[in-house]
Amino acid sequence: MTAALTAAVLGAGAQGAVHAFGLSRIPGMRIVAISDVDPDAAASLAARHDARAYTDLEALLADHRVDLLSICAPAAVHRAVVDAAIAHGVRAIHCEKPMALTYGDARHLVAATADAGVALTVNHQRRFDRMHREVRELVQDGVIGALTGAQGYCANLFDWGSHTLDLIRLHLGDPRAVSVLAQIDVAARKRVYGALTETAGIVKVRFDSGTDAIIATGRDERLHALGDNGIVLQGTRGRVDIFGGRALVHADGREPREIAESVDPAFAIELGGVDATIIEQTALALADLARCLTTGEEPVLHAHHGLAAAEIIFAAYESSVRRGTVRLPLDVFDNPLQRGLDQGLWTPAGEIVSTY
Ligand SMILES: NC(=O)c1ccc[n+]([C@@H]2O[C@H](COP(=O)([O-])OP(=O)(O)OC[C@H]3O[C@@H](n4cnc5c(N)ncnc54)[C@H](O)[C@@H]3O)[C@@H](O)[C@H]2O)c1
Repeated sequence: MTAALTAAVLGAGAQGAVHAFGLSRIPGMRIVAISDVDPDAAASLAARHDARAYTDLEALLADHRVDLLSICAPAAVHRAVVDAAIAHGVRAIHCEKPMALTYGDARHLVAATADAGVALTVNHQRRFDRMHREVRELVQDGVIGALTGAQGYCANLFDWGSHTLDLIRLHLGDPRAVSVLAQIDVAARKRVYGALTETAGIVKVRFDSGTDAIIATGRDERLHALGDNGIVLQGTRGRVDIFGGRALVHADGREPREIAESVDPAFAIELGGVDATIIEQTALALADLARCLTTGEEPVLHAHHGLAAAEIIFAAYESSVRRGTVRLPLDVFDNPLQRGLDQGLWTPAGEIVSTY
């Protein structure tokens, strides 16, 4: 049981409800306040959790001692919110992905929280996915032999791709990326949760483990036919195809073994239409962070994983601008996609506003 802890949630949209539900299930955790620039959204979620509603985070933090802050507002506000939380003595922050609009801001989040002794996690909650965990164990047991590489498919690199890259790193044993070669298209000004993304791309990541990952992004028909997002793990004796909520393990020429996505019935609830797997995994991530606050251990979703994904994302954009391989550690701290657009490298036609 977690000793008495207090929590607050910033951003009372779909993910805010998911985080609040997860927090409400942690023994000893009390949600004291919810803040959102939309007063109705804040009031409605606060009422559900018997908490106070705010439209101003500073006021919330001035009124309450908050041990754990969940950040569920878009990436553009993460830096200012994390700085405010640190200044007010928040001890742990669980921040939605993607971390930040620039690699510089993502690094700042990690450095500022580390300096202040604040635990920071990024909600790449799929690390708690039962199917991915089972696949990871099989791969570690050598079922497909030695890993030789991975492929990833996702709608865009910046938002969905942060999960894809994080999962690829998980399956490859969390190697360090050493170089990135990419080319992207910006056929339209596409914004996902307000942030600029490419419309399509191809990314090659070289890891210090000796493995490469190739990621294709976009929303064309062929990628859609594959299930919009997915990962293929290649090994010397087989491969694992992870698409559409199931994994097929092919090894040694035998019939593929299927591992299906599953969820604890306690999390199969209606919460703004959010997938039950996300609800369960986010609850597990928050419980893990709360536990680590007491034990001092490193949480599973520690922000250094988020930063590793962010480095690859911004290196891919930088590679596309430079038209060449970018060696890491990344030494550009702005958003190269925005910079390239400002320089006229792409001529987008129209706007796309989307959540993926
Ligand atoms: N981890 C996942 O699997 C997952 C799934 C979906 C979305 N997300 C991420 O979660 C974030 C939020 O997604 P969502 O689906 O909840 O979006 P949403 O639009 O439903 O909710 C966002 C909320 O943030 C509020 N907001 C915006 N700016 C704010 C500010 N400055 N201060 C306070 N509140 C502010 C909005 O009013 C809104 O209520 C996005 O960054 C998205 O990428 C993650």
